[in-house]
Amino acid sequence: MPSSLFLTRFALAVLVALASACDPSGGRRDLVPGPPVLPAVASAVAVPATTVHEAPPMPGPGRARGEAAVAENRACELCHEREARSWRSSLHHHAGTHPAYRDAFAVEPNPFCRGCHVPEGVPTAEPSASVRALGVGCVTCHLTPGGDILAAPAQDRQEPAPHRLLRSAEFASDGGCAGCHEFTFPGLHGGDDRAFMQTTSREHRRSAGRTTPCASCHMPLVDGARSHGFDRVRDPAWLRENLLVEAERQGDIVQLTLRQPRPGHAFPTGDLFRRLEVGLLVQDRSGRVRLRERQFLARHFEVRTGVAGRHLERDDRVFDEPRSVFFSLPDGEHLRISWWVTLQRVASVGDGTSPAEARVESEVRLHEGRLP
Ligand code: HEC
Ligand code: HEC
Ligand code: HEC
Ligand code: HEC
Ligand code: HEC
Repeated sequence: MPSSLFLTRFALAVLVALASACDPSGGRRDLVPGPPVLPAVASAVAVPATTVHEAPPMPGPGRARGEAAVAENRACELCHEREARSWRSSLHHHAGTHPAYRDAFAVEPNPFCRGCHVPEGVPTAEPSASVRALGVGCVTCHLTPGGDILAAPAQDRQEPAPHRLLRSAEFASDGGCAGCHEFTFPGLHGGDDRAFMQTTSREHRRSAGRTTPCASCHMPLVDGARSHGFDRVRDPAWLRENLLVEAERQGDIVQLTLRQPRPGHAFPTGDLFRRLEVGLLVQDRSGRVRLRERQFLARHFEVRTGVAGRHLERDDRVFDEPRSVFFSLPDGEHLRISWWVTLQRVASVGDGTSPAEARVESEVRLHEGRLP
């Protein structure tokens, strides 16, 4: 069993992290912006002009607006009931309270984590219950420090809003997400993938789906409004449609080929402990197991003594191109061969050397089958 040091998202980085905890983005962003400027929600009669900025500030970690954000969020929810309903069911809303995060934070209670999971709190302080419960709120994504409300570019028919709106193509592409969905290990800087704990946004920019906005896949239109539940990723049927598997046997080799029909980034993306398990079970006629082998497609990290963060050793996730996994069959006649592909998130991958021993915290069986 690896030492508790290895049970972390960034072994060996804790001290560095405390020093740089206030800056998960590596110096590009003020963690604690000035006092909140709340939007002037006037009567619906006085319609303020919509501003169009060249480069409006995009959402990101460490908003730190505290109780003012909680109160303002309540106002958004009252007027935008449809968006509020789906947001309340989302893991954005529950980012600071749900068990997977609380368990991981208990193992490494680092202020850095709060910047994104409790973004309206001050990262170095224990948040109040209401700020923790807000999680990633309407205000976190939409309300700029200047008091404008970010929105997608105008559609044909537009009702006037009783508040300032700042329409931005960047917000509606990946600018509304990149601040939190691409970030380095604390203490590491620079543009190299190896410095990054999550790389979803840069994967998107490199993928064949780069012109498809994140919202097109993750915020489907439901009754004319964008769903704010971000819950397709928890729908096994949707996941299955988005990863296709072909299995074939040639002599004593079994080849499983995984392909994304509509790539938007790597599969799987997100947290560094997500991976695909590709498995093969071979039995003889009497049911005796002859071979049980699993291979893992992931960003494979190693912990290296004296080096902050984890070292990215290789990345064999499914990207734009199909990815093949090979297994050698044992000798023998009348073998019964079954295979499976499972999406998993593990608690840790230890020091990276024995992924098969990692504790699986959640998993979805995507595909399975048999071969003659
Ligand atoms: C007093 C009611 C009210 C409050 C409070 C309010 N809004 Fe609005 N908002 C409206 C109305 C009405 C519109 C225009 C009609 C529409 O698009 O829903 C609008 C428009 C918008 C739009 C643009 C929709 C589009 O056309 O693309 C966004 C985004 C938005 N509001 C977000 C927010 C957020 C976030 C908050 C909280 C910080 C908020 N609103 C607070 C009533 C309100
Ligand atoms: C994780 C970021 C995020 C959070 C949290 C969030 N929104 Fe949005 N919202 C967006 C993005 C991005 C769009 C634009 C999608 C598009 O049309 O391209 C959007 C669109 C909207 C719109 C435009 C109308 C529509 O639904 O098509 C409204 C209104 C809105 N949001 C209100 C809210 C309210 C109210 C909350 C909280 C209950 C909220 N949003 C929480 C990112 C967010
Ligand atoms: C302020 C930071 C922040 C912003 C901005 C943000 N996210 Fe997130 N997002 C998070 C955090 C934190 C989580 C993890 C929540 C958890 O599981 O604890 C998350 C989770 C998710 C998930 C997984 C949800 C689930 O149910 O498993 C998706 C998908 C996602 N975000 C997409 C987006 C998209 C698309 C955008 C832009 C429109 C966006 N996010 C903007 C912080 C953010
Ligand atoms: C073409 C569709 C598509 C686009 C575009 C896309 N995604 Fe995804 N996203 C998926 C699919 C399919 C999955 C499920 C498999 C996986 O984890 O890669 C997913 C998974 C995720 C997850 C993992 C959530 C979890 O709980 O497992 C996050 C976070 C996420 N996307 C964020 C984003 C962000 C941020 C963008 C834009 C920068 C984006 N996605 C663009 C299709 C898309
Ligand atoms: C810069 C933003 C950011 C920081 C800092 C951050 N996270 Fe996250 N975290 C995210 C996003 C975005 C996701 C969603 C990706 C996904 O679900 O795969 C996420 C997902 C997770 C998940 C998976 C949740 C689930 O539903 O499966 C855990 C656990 C987690 N984070 C714990 C932590 C811990 C512990 C820390 C501090 C060491 C931390 N995070 C720091 C943005 C951040």
